[in-house]
Amino acid sequence: MNKLKIGVIGCGYWGPNLIRNFIEIPTATMEAVADLDEQRLTHIRTCYPQIPHITRDHRDLFELGLDAVVISTPPQTHFALAKECLQHGLHVLVEKPLTTTSEDARKLIKLAKKQNRLLMVGHTFEYNPAVHALKEMIVSGELGDIHYIDAVRASLGLFHPTLNVIWDLAPHDISILIHLLGQKPTSVSTQGVAYIQKDVEDIAYMTLMFPNNVLSHIRLSWLDPCKTRRITVIGSKKMAVYDDVESHEKIKVYDKRVKAIRRTDTYGEFQFAYHYGSVVSPYIHLQEPLRVECQHFLDCILHDETPLTNGQNGLRVVEIIEAAQQSLKNQGEQVAIADGGLVTLKKNGHRELVNGRPPVTVNNKKSEFINQATQ
Ligand SMILES: NC(=O)c1ccc[n+]([C@@H]2O[C@H](COP(=O)([O-])OP(=O)(O)OC[C@H]3O[C@@H](n4cnc5c(N)ncnc54)[C@H](O)[C@@H]3O)[C@@H](O)[C@H]2O)c1
Repeated sequence: MNKLKIGVIGCGYWGPNLIRNFIEIPTATMEAVADLDEQRLTHIRTCYPQIPHITRDHRDLFELGLDAVVISTPPQTHFALAKECLQHGLHVLVEKPLTTTSEDARKLIKLAKKQNRLLMVGHTFEYNPAVHALKEMIVSGELGDIHYIDAVRASLGLFHPTLNVIWDLAPHDISILIHLLGQKPTSVSTQGVAYIQKDVEDIAYMTLMFPNNVLSHIRLSWLDPCKTRRITVIGSKKMAVYDDVESHEKIKVYDKRVKAIRRTDTYGEFQFAYHYGSVVSPYIHLQEPLRVECQHFLDCILHDETPLTNGQNGLRVVEIIEAAQQSLKNQGEQVAIADGGLVTLKKNGHRELVNGRPPVTVNNKKSEFINQATQ
């Protein structure tokens, strides 16, 4: 079997999850880990004594004949590290957000193209089977016309010392919304406040307007007693709630809707027809989204394919966060988002990304027998 030699830069909170996955995937060998922090390296040496190279200097990775590098360091370091890795002829998977400016993201896309190397961003939720199931419901028309989407990503911490909650958490929800709707928003307005650290907003409310009058709102918080990861999609036929904190019934579909009917006898008066039906939780074969993402990265290298979350996909999210930051600075003014022309509406009304390849395949069995009592 053709195995790809992988290195990981950054093994703080998130890096070990990437290391574990690349160790477990048969088409990869985990060759090297770099981190500036000796304590983190000691932790990795203890957990994974089989990794041959563990170093404080990421430049050591360029001498090892690696195929690809995964960057899981703080976002402000992504650009410089990814640039260096691409210049050394390595394929690169960068954790979200791709960069902290759209200018840097464009430079990386250009460099990856010049070097003929793959550039992928870790928008993990685009590899989440529950998100795929939700998208299927939207695309198939099960929910009807989409009216609005409400997203909440809140918990106590983890506080970031320099980047605000928008840069930390919004990449997830923005990438989910674009993935679900197959379009990017036309405008954004954001308000936020820094309560705990000076000038680093720990809570933010972001309103995004999508084409076809689809309104969306994202609440982001590091200052909330309850961990919430929830997306509510309101359609003209049905309503769906995706709760990522739920261990099993992650999606519930409510057969509820309402219609305003104009009375024929009294001009101008409406009566409302409320429909209450069943609540159904469809079976979703749960796979670790990060595993699907890491496998996709390797598959794309091996088969010379464009990743679902390629550089353009990463750029799009960075552009929206930049616009949100501008709005935040100007007390929530509405900022228009220029059309990059990367997403489109299919003629039959179904929306899909057209960034070069169809969505990644996830196991979408409707039911199955499994060995364990729980997943
Ligand atoms: N996809 C997800 O669900 C998800 C979840 C959490 C974090 N992340 C992303 O992962 C990245 C890392 O986040 P984290 O929470 O692990 O941060 P962290 O601060 O816990 O870890 C970052 C590590 O990078 C190391 N580092 C910094 N500069 C370095 C350099 N030049 N060379 C080598 N090592 C260096 C630090 O010493 C630290 O150990 C961020 O981009 C974050 O947004 C993604």
